[in-house]
Amino acid sequence: MSVSKPLPHDAARLHVTGQARYVDDIPMPQNTLHLAFGLSTIAAGRISSINLDDVRAAPGVVRVWEAKDLPSDCDCSPSNHDEPMLSGATIQYLGQPVFLVAATSHLAARKAARLAQITYGERDAILTIDDAMAANSRFEDGPRVWEKGDAGEAIDTAPRRISGVIEMGGQEHFYLEGQSAMALPQEGGDVVVHSSTQHPTEIQHKVAHALHLPMHGVRVETRRMGGGFGGKESQGNALAIACAVVASATGRPAKMRYDRDDDFMITGKRHDFRIEYRVGFDDQGVISGIEFEHYTRCGWAQDLSLPVADRAMLHADNAYHLPHVRIESHRLKTNTQSATAFRGFGGPQGMLGMERVMDHIAHDLGLDPVAVRRANYYSAEVEGGAAPVASGDSPGGISDKKKQGEDLTSRGAQQVTAAGAPVVADAEQTTPYGQVVEDFILHEMTDRVLEGADYEARRAAVADWNAGNAVIKKGLAFTPVKFGISFTLTHLNQAGALVHVYQDGSIHMNHGGTEMGQGLFQKVAQVAADRFGVPLERVKITATDTAKVPNTSATAASSGSDLNGMAVKAACDTIRDRMANHLASLHQCNTRDVVFADGTVTVQGETYSFAKVAQLTYEARISLSATGFYRTPKLSWDRIKGQGRPFLYFAYGAAISEVAVDTLTGEYRILRTDILHDAGSSLNPALDIGQVEGGFVQGAGWLTTEELVWDQSGRLRTHAPSTYKIPACSDRPDVFNVALWEGANREDTIYRSKAVGEPPFMLGMSVFLALSDAVAACGSGYPALDAPATPERVLAAIERVRDGV
Ligand code: MTE
Ligand code: MOS
Repeated sequence: MSVSKPLPHDAARLHVTGQARYVDDIPMPQNTLHLAFGLSTIAAGRISSINLDDVRAAPGVVRVWEAKDLPSDCDCSPSNHDEPMLSGATIQYLGQPVFLVAATSHLAARKAARLAQITYGERDAILTIDDAMAANSRFEDGPRVWEKGDAGEAIDTAPRRISGVIEMGGQEHFYLEGQSAMALPQEGGDVVVHSSTQHPTEIQHKVAHALHLPMHGVRVETRRMGGGFGGKESQGNALAIACAVVASATGRPAKMRYDRDDDFMITGKRHDFRIEYRVGFDDQGVISGIEFEHYTRCGWAQDLSLPVADRAMLHADNAYHLPHVRIESHRLKTNTQSATAFRGFGGPQGMLGMERVMDHIAHDLGLDPVAVRRANYYSAEVEGGAAPVASGDSPGGISDKKKQGEDLTSRGAQQVTAAGAPVVADAEQTTPYGQVVEDFILHEMTDRVLEGADYEARRAAVADWNAGNAVIKKGLAFTPVKFGISFTLTHLNQAGALVHVYQDGSIHMNHGGTEMGQGLFQKVAQVAADRFGVPLERVKITATDTAKVPNTSATAASSGSDLNGMAVKAACDTIRDRMANHLASLHQCNTRDVVFADGTVTVQGETYSFAKVAQLTYEARISLSATGFYRTPKLSWDRIKGQGRPFLYFAYGAAISEVAVDTLTGEYRILRTDILHDAGSSLNPALDIGQVEGGFVQGAGWLTTEELVWDQSGRLRTHAPSTYKIPACSDRPDVFNVALWEGANREDTIYRSKAVGEPPFMLGMSVFLALSDAVAACGSGYPALDAPATPERVLAAIERVRDGV
């Protein structure tokens, strides 16, 4: 059985020996053209004159396009048709592509792109959240509001109230492989595109639109990305369209890759947010009502901003039951890069707002922040689920809380479990959007991680240390994660696969998911090998290809293995059943008596090699090729009302981080982090632990050193590793303990595993709150600390608490 084994990434050897092939490594025909964009140098206004003579005359330049020269608007938007590939006269951000150069080399194209003479009529740019609010510049008519109960009343009548605000910055994806694409012209005007994309079908769709082709005229192939992190869900469209336009116009292959600085200047990043909160609670810190206001800076085009902002709202509760809640979300349009998907997709921002509230309440009451969190957790698992896991017995305190007369009018109060038994949901189980939390395992997970990290003793040790040390202060924080799994655009929750068994018994596996380093292909290959009972080497992992599996969704929302694993399983089972039927008919026995294991097939005491059975099936003229399909069950969601069941299930995690801060400089280190993460019955614990470690570090980077700075003209000043600091190996915790929770998914997912790509990102919140804890130890009052908590911000926060501000 290959499923659940900690096998290495299928391409690990290729990665470390430099043989793994990325788009830029594909050998190209000699007459290939290389492309570069010429970028705007203002953030908002109109072009008054443009002279590209010097660009055209530059060495190696073959042709230059402005918007008016394109075959169509070449729209790049994944959502709203508001992203022309080239600006035309109207400029919407600094770094916007204005013209396209095709030259005989990459360098020649880039050099030529700098030679344009453009004059502009500038207007005042809308750069910040405040600018956008003042100008009422937004993507929807007004804010989106989701409500449950009466938050205002609950807060006003609560024994205690606090309010606050936290700002959190965006984040550059910094995938190691920059964006790239190439296009090869085909006969009859068709085109083949290789793209570093998480979403080959979208590339196909947008290229077809740009060239006025039916989708069948465009084939897109993606073998792998060198990281995507959401930055290649939509941001690769422009490069692929540019290559296809040039290939179609010139009949020559075309290739484009962004230099790192261009990648920073052109492409979208994580959305920065401001979250304001007002909360009412009792003396134990139990929340009765809460109001959030989310201000989301979306940049110039809509891209995926609406679902990102939705997901922030969907995670405003994180792990806590909120009896009365109101969430207001402003999706603001600014003259900056169009913010896009980034690991967690708004979830991290929404969740950090809630975790900040928990910390603030604990500080206000002088209680341990873990105790306050636990007092607000959802109740433990609902009984009667499909796959009871762990001990999940009586959820303590439910009836007590009920007597306090909390909101029992929650919507969706009646749910039906997989087993078909109706479960009456109590108020402690219902999210602000009406989904019943059936699988809440954080009570047990919290016990385990506190114990493993020796929390109580270390909390006391940190207090002792801080009492005795004036310069170096320590901080400790626990944060839980509850992350909803499924695309919130319900129709995206589908996947297809194509599997062939050849007559020699080797297996060709294909599905709609893409590989970006996360190990999806390996996990799904393990599923395929397991279905046929063959060793993994029998299964060929092949590039994602729109001609093999059509109409795919982006590999995103962490759903890659959930969706594609199931689709591949279905395809494999179809073929295996045909093989088994044939063998059973030869043996005049029941199909169930045919057993596939250890690379052999056994029936009635006789053992065949898998290859032999493939050959026999082929000779009997039975198809050894099949498609597979999967759609996620149980989903229903109304995003306008903010009601329904957007998620099949939740993935959970818990982290404890300890930091030391030099209060003279604001510099800090992560001394230790303990993580317990829920990947269900893991398909591959080695890869999943890799995802947890990588996600945590990336999340900690977002909240500590990764700072995006735009100047007053709207120019991004941090556009290279010299000025934008992602975590290095040496920034990981000195002691880093990562374990997987052992418990199956109670929903019927692929081998009862859980999605793992994004949820661990949010465990990085523990570092931010540990820093806040260390700052708090320097004075009195709850420290105002925004993210990223760079050393400068930490130092400023220390000075504020010392001065009692
Ligand atoms: N891990 C690596 N190594 N590289 C990546 O680009 N992207 C993350 C996560 N883990 C990413 C990664 C994001 S944003 C998502 S949505 C998931 O992987 C996508 O893959 P999955 O659905 O197969 O988990
Ligand atoms: Mo991930 S942000 O859903 O690509």
